[in-house]
Amino acid sequence: MVGAVLVHQDTIIGEGFHQAYGQAHAEVNAFNSVSIADTYKIPESSLYVSLEPCNHVGKTGACTHRIIEEKVQKVFIANLDPNPNVSGQGMRFLQSKGVLIQQGILADKGKAIIAPFIVHQTQKRPYIILKWAQSKHAYLGVKGQQVWLSNAQSKVLSHKWRSDIDAILIGANTAITDDPKLTTREYPGEDPIRVLIDPHLRVPKDKAIFGENGKVIVCNYTKEGIEGNVTYLKMEEKEYSIASLCKALYKFDIYYLLVEGGAFTLEAFIKENMWDEARVIRTSHLLSDGIKAPTLKGRLLDKKAILGDEILYIENETVK
Ligand SMILES: NC(=O)c1ccc[n+]([C@@H]2O[C@H](COP(=O)([O-])OP(=O)(O)OC[C@H]3O[C@@H](n4cnc5c(N)ncnc54)[C@H](OP(=O)(O)O)[C@@H]3O)[C@@H](O)[C@H]2O)c1
Repeated sequence: MVGAVLVHQDTIIGEGFHQAYGQAHAEVNAFNSVSIADTYKIPESSLYVSLEPCNHVGKTGACTHRIIEEKVQKVFIANLDPNPNVSGQGMRFLQSKGVLIQQGILADKGKAIIAPFIVHQTQKRPYIILKWAQSKHAYLGVKGQQVWLSNAQSKVLSHKWRSDIDAILIGANTAITDDPKLTTREYPGEDPIRVLIDPHLRVPKDKAIFGENGKVIVCNYTKEGIEGNVTYLKMEEKEYSIASLCKALYKFDIYYLLVEGGAFTLEAFIKENMWDEARVIRTSHLLSDGIKAPTLKGRLLDKKAILGDEILYIENETVK
């Protein structure tokens, strides 16, 4: 989510991004990518970063120290670190060493890239993506029946989305009616953790969600503990909310959560304003009656056509 570009007289001589947690940060990768022949240009170069360089030694060294070592004189930053405990520290340290800083460059675009990180740091919950497919007249399905709405290509895309996230969540009725496997079988990648909201433990154990591969978390009112690959997460009925559930999931290292329905579950997230993005697959499938698809207010970021389906990417502006 963080990128860095090293520019010498309008030519990029190095670039890098933060590839994985615990590994080198973007700035370090940018410095390391410079060819031996160009190394002498580094002190005369400007560094552009999408996030303020870190000033603390964690799993890796402080990026600010590397910037000073490399003798870079100018650093352009899109956004300061959203973590209130460290925000501004990297910038001030560099300034104290005489480095010229300009902050707020393409701030909106930078913010969009780090939106999940902002949510993690400031709200201690997963970044939440709501996803559903709807018929031509905005029905999500038919009560008690499995109805397939989106086309084969959209299905592959939604499996790609599954490969990008840590966990996928559904409600009890969807687990019973649709019996989904919730895997990424149509796209290369790891299967997400499967999360089921089943307060009264109604979903039979022979349903696909309880398949032996991968971890399953069942949020419920009565049971706790671990049985095989299933973790029962007991939620106090009186204090139960989507917000408290998401805080609990965050503690399971779930940083990206895809909510795949059904309507009741999606509405619960919307009602509490606990969502960051929605991806809606509008199809031409005709249903004359059924379960109404949710409605939400957000900013349309993008619209893409896949064969006959239309994918809407919507952002929740109110939580950023
Ligand atoms: N088109 C699509 O993209 C799509 C995707 C998924 C599902 N569907 C369709 O949607 C239908 C199911 O939707 P649905 O609205 O009936 O049910 P649902 O959202 O799948 O499940 C609702 C049930 O889950 C539990 N639950 C979920 N969220 C909860 C919350 N915040 N608090 C407490 N309990 C919660 C409750 O169980 P208890 O009643 O036991 O308390 C609730 O009755 C199916 O027909 C399926 O085919 C369509």
